Amino acid sequence: MGMDDQPTIADKKPAVMKLEPGDYWWCACGKSVNQPFCDGSHKGTGFGPQKVTIDEEKTVAFCNCKHSANQPFCDGTHAKL
Ligand code: FES
Ligand code: FES
Repeated sequence: MGMDDQPTIADKKPAVMKLEPGDYWWCACGKSVNQPFCDGSHKGTGFGPQKVTIDEEKTVAFCNCKHSANQPFCDGTHAKL
């Protein structure tokens, strides 16, 4: 897989969830079966997870289409895919 390859669209809507403080690993490749988090399925895709550090409890909208310009968060790009 080359650098120009696109990630897999896991879903065309974000994963909205309340998170406790801590470190999370967002799946950038789109192949994880544990979306929106990495499960190691990116192996061989050229993509890797993105670490997200949450300092205080909050609700976030993770990008599941993997095409957001504001990764790991949804920026509405999924509506154009
Ligand atoms: Fe997608 Fe790890 S499974 S980045
Ligand atoms: Fe990817 Fe919204 S789910 S931009």
